[in-house]
Amino acid sequence: MRKLNMVIHAKDRKSHISPEIYGHFSEHLGRCIYNGIYVGTDSKIPNKNGIRTDVLEAFRQIHMPVLRWPGGCFADEYHWMDGIGEKTERRKMINTNWGAVTEDNSFGTHEFFELCEEIGCAPYLAVNLGSGTVREMAEWIEYITCDGDSPMANLRRKNGREKPWKLKYVGIGNESWGCGGSMRPEYYADEYRRYQSFCKNFSGNELYKIACGPNGGDFDWTDKLMANLNEYHTKAISLHYYTIPTNNWNAKGSALDFDEEEYYSTIFNTLYMDELIEQHCAVMSRHDHAHKIGLIVDEWGCWYDVEPGTHPGFLYQQNTMRDAIVAACNLNIFNHHSDRVVMANLAQAVNVLQALILTEGEKMVKTPTYHVFDLYQGHHDGELVYSFCEESMVGKTNRIPMISHSASVKDHVLTVTIANCAIDDEAEIFCAVNGMRAESADVRLLTGDCHAHNDFDFPERVTIRPHSAVLSADGFTVKIPPCSVVLLTLR
Ligand code: AHR
Repeated sequence: MRKLNMVIHAKDRKSHISPEIYGHFSEHLGRCIYNGIYVGTDSKIPNKNGIRTDVLEAFRQIHMPVLRWPGGCFADEYHWMDGIGEKTERRKMINTNWGAVTEDNSFGTHEFFELCEEIGCAPYLAVNLGSGTVREMAEWIEYITCDGDSPMANLRRKNGREKPWKLKYVGIGNESWGCGGSMRPEYYADEYRRYQSFCKNFSGNELYKIACGPNGGDFDWTDKLMANLNEYHTKAISLHYYTIPTNNWNAKGSALDFDEEEYYSTIFNTLYMDELIEQHCAVMSRHDHAHKIGLIVDEWGCWYDVEPGTHPGFLYQQNTMRDAIVAACNLNIFNHHSDRVVMANLAQAVNVLQALILTEGEKMVKTPTYHVFDLYQGHHDGELVYSFCEESMVGKTNRIPMISHSASVKDHVLTVTIANCAIDDEAEIFCAVNGMRAESADVRLLTGDCHAHNDFDFPERVTIRPHSAVLSADGFTVKIPPCSVVLLTLR
């Protein structure tokens, strides 16, 4: 057991935590959309207009604030007109990025916007800059948002939707440095400037335009891109960073079968997110002194080798308490950077990479990662406050701080989230809370061996349970088992 001191200044407000930091991502990849989110109206699996009701309910429970779609790499080969109108007449295509399977386009614009309406979340559209045209993109925006007598608005009406939808977030190109067109930053910046000029605000709708930012530590991309952007045509740039235990894309490591060293290398690699954000923000600040342009981490999470026996192009992987620790650490990092990080989107929502939800036929399980998003809901729209924990390192080769934490205040309620990243050491934390005298503490815990996971036979092996803390005049004391995430809600 390690005894550690922590301190929170409940009145020292740092920045506003956008709920969109708790956002998600759904791509036409493997079983994310088809069979994961969308089963079609003829399915025996309970659904609402083809959308699985169990998945819908799970998304609602965590108050999913925003959902990115249709990719990923898929976005830059997606032609939206193929996904509207009578389903039987929709043009099919080959999903060249993900398994070369036939995409029948039965899930398209109407289905996505209906999904977002049902969840109650904001849609985030990734538009095709790589293989699409400016006109195609402009017409998509008109189709979605125009209320007037226009060709695209009338086409939407013909397809059954009278009123336009609201659309705020528009990402122009995905990974334009890679699958989105292998562009150089100068070239992409010019293309971005051209495309964004034709993203129009129809009928009172206001777009929030997002440029394709860097891959991991590519600071040169950020520098050259930012040199060509301004606050008038760009609200944010994106960042993609995936956690790979081995640092080797050809043998990334297994989701379930890993040793202590690989556990720590995973957490070590995930904590690099903090440095990445700091450094990219420093580069951004050189061009944008007033910090008008935000950073959106619109793809993050663990990427392992696919589950043995599954389609290599479908990126299906299991999800353990190790992933829960990864999620907790990243969300704490985003909270700490909420002055610049305005949105983040976990990759991906269902059946792909570090998924919230896994499905098999009519069965569904919530992963440990899902439960972390559930635990962290108190931070949505909160004000980040100062928190500090004394450092205590764990791990042999890859040394990491034992504790990851963040704290926020909303409506006089203090939300504190703490992860104990140690694989086998319990932590006893005494936390002094200044600026607030808590009368009660509701404490919840997610814990388990680092390999613990939920599957279709044991869907509740890892789940949130009540926990306790001792309140005192100065703050609280809480014991946190190894490999755990704890939420304290102090009133
Ligand atoms: O999330 C899987 C893929 O990872 C996305 O399609 C792409 O943007 C990234 O390389």
